[in-house]
Amino acid sequence: MKIGLLTSGGDAPGMNAAIRAVVRTALYYGMEVFGIERGFAGLIEDKMQPMNMRSVSEIINRGGTMLRTARCCEMLDKEGRKKAASVLEKRGIEGLVVIGGDGSFRGAKSLTEEFGVSTIGIPGTIDNDLEYTDYTLGFDTAVNTNINIVNMLRDTMNSHERISVVEVMGRSCGDIALFTGIASGAEIIIVPEIRYDMEDVVMRIDRSRKSGKHSNIIVVAEGACSAEEFASQLKESTDYAVRTTTIGHIQRGGSPTMADRMLAAQFGNKAIRLLKEKTGSRAVGIKRNKIIDMDIIEAVEMKKRFNYELYETLQMISM
Ligand code: F6P
Repeated sequence: MKIGLLTSGGDAPGMNAAIRAVVRTALYYGMEVFGIERGFAGLIEDKMQPMNMRSVSEIINRGGTMLRTARCCEMLDKEGRKKAASVLEKRGIEGLVVIGGDGSFRGAKSLTEEFGVSTIGIPGTIDNDLEYTDYTLGFDTAVNTNINIVNMLRDTMNSHERISVVEVMGRSCGDIALFTGIASGAEIIIVPEIRYDMEDVVMRIDRSRKSGKHSNIIVVAEGACSAEEFASQLKESTDYAVRTTTIGHIQRGGSPTMADRMLAAQFGNKAIRLLKEKTGSRAVGIKRNKIIDMDIIEAVEMKKRFNYELYETLQMISM
C-alpha cells in the first residue's frame, strides 16, 4: 500500500513527532510512504519524496515540521482539489494522512466527499479548536510556553506594581487563553466566547489590590481583542500602570512537551492502523484520555464548545 503524508496550515509543536510515528508505523506494516512538501500546495504540484526509517531520525524533539507547511488557497476551489486528487491517483497513493487544523481537515474532507480519497486527519494546531477531540497536537506546548512567559512577567510586574496585559493566540477560540490563565494564575482572562465588561475587570483588580496584591496578570485571547486595544480601554478606567506583551509566534515553536509527544506517537500510529484496516476517512483524536477516531466529515462539522466550567473555576480561584 502507498500512502501520502502532509502537514498543512499553521505549524504546531509535535508535528515532527507525529510525522515520525506515521512513517515508522507505515514502514512497520510494509507500506510505502511519500512525504509531501508544503501541505496541499505541494500535493497539487506533485512535490513529494519517498520516506524511510532514517528520514525521520532526530526530529522527535524539534518544533516546526520537516515537511514544511502552507495555507493553500487552491484547495478552496474544486479545480485545485481535482488536481490534488489526480496527483494521488497518478502516483497510486491509496491513503492520505493530513496533519493540521480545521482548514486542513476541510481540505481532506472535500477530497473524500468529491473524489473518494481515503484521508486520515491528525489534529495538529496550537488553537485546540476542534470539538471532536479534547486536545490537539501543539496546544500543550504552546500553553507551557505561555506559562513560562507569564512567570517572567509576574516577576517584573510585581516589582513595579503594574498590570500585565498578555495577548495569546488561538484565532476565534479562547482555549489557549483559558488554560494559560488558569495554569499561570492570571486574575482575568478575556476570550472571544464571553463578552467582557470593563467595569467588572476594574472591580476585580481593585479588590485584589485592596487585599494586598501588588500586580495583576490579564490574559487576552487574540480573537477577543489585541493587548494594545484592551490596555488602552483599561487605562481609561484606572490609574494603575499597564504594560502589554504580545507573545505571538513564539507559541508556535519550541521542543514539544511530553504530552504533545505522547499524543503524536499515538495519533500517528492510529492513523496508519486505520488506513491499513481500510476504515474510510477518519479523524483521530483523544477523548477522556482514550485515543478515538470518527468520521472526518462529522468531525469537521462539530461546533467547538467553550468550557464554561473551567472559566468559572478561574473566576473563583484567581483573585
Ligand atoms: O492556527 C494557528 C495560529 O497560530 C493562530 O493561533 C493564529 O491566529 C494564526 O495561526 C496565525 O497565522 P500566521 O502564522 O499565518 O500568521
